[in-house]
Amino acid sequence: MKIAFISSEVHPFSKSGGLADVASSLPIALAKMGHEVVVVSPWYKTLKNVTPYYLWELEASRLSTRMGVADTLEHGVRWVFVGGSLFDRDSYYGYSDDVYRFSQFCMAVPHVLHGLHFFPDAYHLNDWQSGLLAPLLRFGDVPEAQRHARSVLSIHNLAFHGRWGLRDVLSWTGLPDWTGNPDGLEYNSDANCLKAGIVYSDVVSTVSPRYAFEITTPEGGFGLDGALRARGVRGILNGIDTDYWNPSTDKYIPKHFSDLKGKQAAREALCRELNLDPDRPTLSMVSRLSEQKGLSIMFGALEEMARDWNIVILGSGDSGAEQGLNWFMQTRPNVHFSSGFNESLAHRIYAGSDAFLMPSLFEPCGLSQMISMRYGTLPIARAVGGLADTVPESRGYPFWDYSDWALAATARYARSQWRSEEWEKKVNEAMRTDFSWDTAAKEYVRLYGG
Ligand code: ADP
Ligand code: GLC
Repeated sequence: MKIAFISSEVHPFSKSGGLADVASSLPIALAKMGHEVVVVSPWYKTLKNVTPYYLWELEASRLSTRMGVADTLEHGVRWVFVGGSLFDRDSYYGYSDDVYRFSQFCMAVPHVLHGLHFFPDAYHLNDWQSGLLAPLLRFGDVPEAQRHARSVLSIHNLAFHGRWGLRDVLSWTGLPDWTGNPDGLEYNSDANCLKAGIVYSDVVSTVSPRYAFEITTPEGGFGLDGALRARGVRGILNGIDTDYWNPSTDKYIPKHFSDLKGKQAAREALCRELNLDPDRPTLSMVSRLSEQKGLSIMFGALEEMARDWNIVILGSGDSGAEQGLNWFMQTRPNVHFSSGFNESLAHRIYAGSDAFLMPSLFEPCGLSQMISMRYGTLPIARAVGGLADTVPESRGYPFWDYSDWALAATARYARSQWRSEEWEKKVNEAMRTDFSWDTAAKEYVRLYGG
C-alpha cells in the first residue's frame, strides 16, 4: 500500500515527546512490511540531522511553501518536510497563531504529495495538527487524485484540541460553511481541529486500548467523549523502535548488555557521571514536565523517595517545576536534575537506573516505560491509559490512586524488593517482553484498508 504519514514532529529531525518516536518507528515498521511510506512533517527552523534540499515554492496552497525531501533510502521511508516562514521559529508550538500555522501546513500537504507523484491509499493523520486534513481531503481544495485515500486519525493526546475562531478557520482553509456546525468541526462556537479529524476521518484510533476506553467517558473525554462515542475509537498499543532502543547495541551507552548482570556496568557509569552513590538504587524520570506526567504527586512523594533512592530527573517544561527540582537537588547529595532535552543522557538514564518513575495523571500510551523495561529498569507507574496496558505486576510496580501516599508507598515497596529474587524475575520478564511494532503495524494496515 501507499501510505502518507502526517505528523507535527518526527525523530530524529524534530522531537518534543513520544509522537516523534511513533512518527519514525511506525513508518519504518510499515516499510519493512513492504509498504511505500512517505512521512510529511513541518520544516522547522530547528530541524536536526538533515539539510532538506530546496525543491519548489508551491503556488497551489495559500502557504508560500518551501519543501525539502531528505533521507529517501536509509530506512526505506521517504521523509518530506514542508515549511515556510510560519515555521521559522525557535519552538515547534506554543504560539498564538498555531492553528493558523497548522491549517496552512494541512492545506499544503496534498499538493506536495501530488507534486511528488505520490498518490496514497491512506493518509494517517496524527493529533490536532493534522486533523483539518480529514475535512480538507473530502471537501477542500486538493488535487482530485488525492481525494481517494482513506483517512485514519490517531489521537496521541486528547488534551490538545487546536481551537480557534470558526469564521477564521473556515476562511483560511476554504472549507464549506456547513462544516462549521456542532455535528462538524465546531465546538463551543470555535473551530476545533481535533474534532474535525474525529468527525471527518474514515477511522479514529488511539494509542492504547485502555485510553480508547477512558476517552469515551466524561471523566477522560476532555469534552470530546460524545463525538468519540459517536464515531467509535480503536485502541492500538504503540510499539517502540527495538533496534534504536536496544541495550545490546545502543550507541549512547558506555557498555552494552543483555541481562541484569551486564547492566551493572551501566549502573555504575551513570552513578559516576552524576556523582551518585552506586550502593543505593537509582529511581529516574525522563519526561516533559507537565501536570499530565503526575508532577503534583511526584513532588508530594519526593522527600520520602529521596530517603531510599538516588533520584535522577531529566526533563523540561513547567518553569515552577524546574525551579523546585533545582532547589531540591541543591539540598540533597543523592538527587540529580538535568533541565532540557538530551537524547544521549536519556539513553544512559534508561540503561543505568534501577527503577523508572511514571506517576501520570493520564497517559495515552507512554513509551518511556516500555523503553525502560527494555533496559531492565522497572517502572513504578500509575495504572492509567497505556501504563495500565503495559506495566503488570510481573514486570513493574503499578499503583492506582492518584495520591502522594500511593506513590510513596509503592516506591517504598519497590525499594524493599531491590536485588531480591522477585526483583530479578521482574527484570528478566521486562527485558524479554516484545515491545516491537510487529503486531500494531499489521493492525494499522487493516485500518488503512489493506
Ligand atoms: P510523551 O509523548 O507524553 O512526552 P512518551 O512516554 O510517549 O511521553 O514519550 C516520551 C519520549 O520523549 C521518550 O522517547 C522519552 O525518552 C523522550 N523524552 C522526554 N523528555 C525528554 C528529555 N528531557 N530529554 C530526552 N528525551 C526526552
Ligand atoms: C503522546 C502521549 C503519550 C504517547 C505519545 C505517542 O505524547 O502523551 O502517552 O505515548 O503521544 O503516542
